[in-house]
Amino acid sequence: MKRVETLFTGRVYHKGEFKEACIGVDNGIISFIGKEANAPSYDEKVDFKGLFIIPGLIDIHAHLRGMRLNYKEDFLSGTSAAAAGGFTLVFDMPNTDPPTNSRLRLMEKTEEAETQIIIDIGFYFGKPEEVSEAEKLVKTHAIGLKLYPEDYSKSIQPNIVEIVNIVRKNGKRIVFHPEDASIIERNRKAYPDMLKGVDKHSFIRNVETELSALDIFYRTFGAGAHATHLTTVESIMKARANRFTYDVSVNHLALTNNDLLTQGGICKVNPPLRSFEERKALIEAFNEGRIAILITDHAPHTLEEKNMTLYDEIPSGIPCFETAFSVLLDMVHKAGLNIYRLVEAFTRGPAEFLGDKKLGTVSEGSIANLTVFNPKEEWKVDPEEFYTKAKHSPFAGRVLRGRVKATVIRGVVVFQDGEIKVQKGFGKIYGINNY
Ligand code: DOR
Ligand code: ZN
Repeated sequence: MKRVETLFTGRVYHKGEFKEACIGVDNGIISFIGKEANAPSYDEKVDFKGLFIIPGLIDIHAHLRGMRLNYKEDFLSGTSAAAAGGFTLVFDMPNTDPPTNSRLRLMEKTEEAETQIIIDIGFYFGKPEEVSEAEKLVKTHAIGLKLYPEDYSKSIQPNIVEIVNIVRKNGKRIVFHPEDASIIERNRKAYPDMLKGVDKHSFIRNVETELSALDIFYRTFGAGAHATHLTTVESIMKARANRFTYDVSVNHLALTNNDLLTQGGICKVNPPLRSFEERKALIEAFNEGRIAILITDHAPHTLEEKNMTLYDEIPSGIPCFETAFSVLLDMVHKAGLNIYRLVEAFTRGPAEFLGDKKLGTVSEGSIANLTVFNPKEEWKVDPEEFYTKAKHSPFAGRVLRGRVKATVIRGVVVFQDGEIKVQKGFGKIYGINNY
């Protein structure tokens, strides 16, 4: 058997089971999986004895910011946080400053990211102004178009149907944020202009806004799109009826409106956290296999911004790269979350969304992206220790059971025991270079 560069050992998730095994990696690709006795010779051995090894986590929805939002997050801080959370590949959203809505802006963002990234990342583009710009964007490395409520739910812009059709025809993804902007506007008017705090957030952006958006989107563009961060089982049923694929965020599986009421601005997220009952039903749906993809929706804002007084000033979004997977492992112990479904929803599910057969499983021929964790290790969340610039978390002070110990990308250990092990710029851009 051909000698390999690196041999990793541990409890490996392979074909739906955890088994003691070795993974041989050559040139960034897995070339062997099996018992140590049958393993090929190697240059280096990385022993993850006693730890669990799963396919590298993939997040199809995150906000890395950069450019004029560098003060909230840059590509180094964001991808370091992602690596520390076990993520090997994440996809960045276009709602930046400036927005990623033209080929030139995508190229500028890509250039800024390339020299800084620790892990691999890919991009979405936002709604371009012109149809001709959409024609250019679909020929780039971006994986698809992200549409926000204002793009489709308030007034229908004349060229948007044409743009969506161009994106579809070129085999790129259409991902939309399902909240109806006109209902939000109407609900907001029920409260004073100078509304303080976030207590009314889940009334202003109630479930009705989500259900309505799922219908508007279907009526306008038809099936064949991906609804991101659904928050209730009712929304899941509607998305299925409208033949959308969909995902659910870790925030909505792990937190409720009660966290918003007790913790305030740091738990303000769009769409909002829902009730205890809705969250419980979501967990059941997850365990029944009705949620194929989970996302982090890592959305960093500074603590200062999150502590603002007025409702409309407090930005929405929760930074969670460094807690997401651990929070879910903790829920395996404490809330009956199914570990197999959990692994699949951050690996194979997203890989299928991407249509990428080289990702999402530990198999011979796959890219050697691995996430290594200890399901038993307990640790206390301290946002001061985060790599993200957003030093706050709804989980601050909580003791979580289950911890990411290492992250391996293309056969290289990029994170281990709290430390980043590669130089910035190690990460690659999805859709160019090696991909
Ligand atoms: O809570 C949110 N934060 N929802 C969004 O749609 C945007 C995101 C952000 O960029 O901060
Ligand atoms: Zn988002």
